[in-house]
Amino acid sequence: MRIAKRMGKLKSAVFAELQRIKEEVAAQGISIIDLGIGSPDRPPAPHVYHTLREAIDNLGNYGYPSSKGSRELRETIAWWYDQRFNVRLDPEKEVLVLMGSQDGLGHVPLAMLDPGDIALIPDPGYPVYAAGVILASGEVYPMALKEENRFLPDFDLIPEKVARKAKIMILNYPNNPVAAVADREFFTRVVKFAAKYDILVCHDLAYSELAYEGYRPPSFLEIPGAKEVGVEFHSVSKTYNMAGCRLGFVVGNSEVIEALTRIKSNIDYGVFFPVQLAGVAALRGPQDIVAQNVAGYAARRDILIRGMADIGWVMDRPKATMFVWARIPKGFTSSEEFAEKILRQTGVVIVPGVAFGREGEGYVRIALVQDEKLILEAVQRIRSKFNFTP
Ligand SMILES: Cc1ncc(COP(=O)(O)O)c(C=O)c1O
Repeated sequence: MRIAKRMGKLKSAVFAELQRIKEEVAAQGISIIDLGIGSPDRPPAPHVYHTLREAIDNLGNYGYPSSKGSRELRETIAWWYDQRFNVRLDPEKEVLVLMGSQDGLGHVPLAMLDPGDIALIPDPGYPVYAAGVILASGEVYPMALKEENRFLPDFDLIPEKVARKAKIMILNYPNNPVAAVADREFFTRVVKFAAKYDILVCHDLAYSELAYEGYRPPSFLEIPGAKEVGVEFHSVSKTYNMAGCRLGFVVGNSEVIEALTRIKSNIDYGVFFPVQLAGVAALRGPQDIVAQNVAGYAARRDILIRGMADIGWVMDRPKATMFVWARIPKGFTSSEEFAEKILRQTGVVIVPGVAFGREGEGYVRIALVQDEKLILEAVQRIRSKFNFTP
């Protein structure tokens, strides 16, 4: 088959290599503790799966749903944004239901970019951002997220020519993989920059509810003028442990919502209706599961960070997300080599930072997706084999 050239740019070689080594290690009889992919390990709240089960038993729910999402779910999303962020949305024109936020993030470049148009993408960044741009035959311009700049992009470093040619910018705070957060002052600068260069801002807010010690991440749409330049992507995957349900949404600028709706109505028929009802139950119902998730991830984070500090591997304590982004210890130069050593010697899977872009070199991402006992075991295994120089 003559597969399109753009496909060659798609798959991350680093993830494939990690998977290969993982299988090799498992075949040697070493049990794997997977802190690689950020898939929540806990089930959804009982009221959510009961809603889903009941809806599945209703044989009227098996037709094509609408590609926009049900009116009830869109109204619920608008209500949720209002009470959480004080942002008002028109459920008809400013809300679109997605098959996971990934669906929208992967397709938005198709709605906005003509071949050769530039997209400003964070580096390191969640892989779908660049993948969507590649599939739309756009050009990725990486915006370096540097620790010395609190992992925020520096707009002054973007050449004027690039800014003028750029049509979209993707941002993500709280951030995967670097676990950094952004404040309203930063988003105000984003709105100004986007308005000046006529750039669509796509803010990925998948981790807004997984924040610690009382910190409440803001929505980009809280900033005056944000709706004129942007949209925000959201997900029930992490907040409500529903990653496998494939349910997310995008809200904000009505022209972009309309364009994305048109793309989706040409290639899918929307989310299975029972899943949409489960989404309504999750957003409207009791929120105890969110507090439990936050407490659970925070406890795991602290076990990991304390345990590693004891052997000289010092990590920053994230304010949000389900990840720890850690500098590789002194004496190691390659994140890939370091993650491979950890995996081969201990069976613990962590992701080399370079898998998320060139600027990720020198770091690894550790996902807090195993229970406290297993995180502790991962710490003990690493402690038994390594001693780092602080
Ligand atoms: C930053 C970020 N955005 C989006 C997603 C995709 O989420 P969804 O399950 O809604 O497609 C993830 C999943 O890991 C993520 O980390």
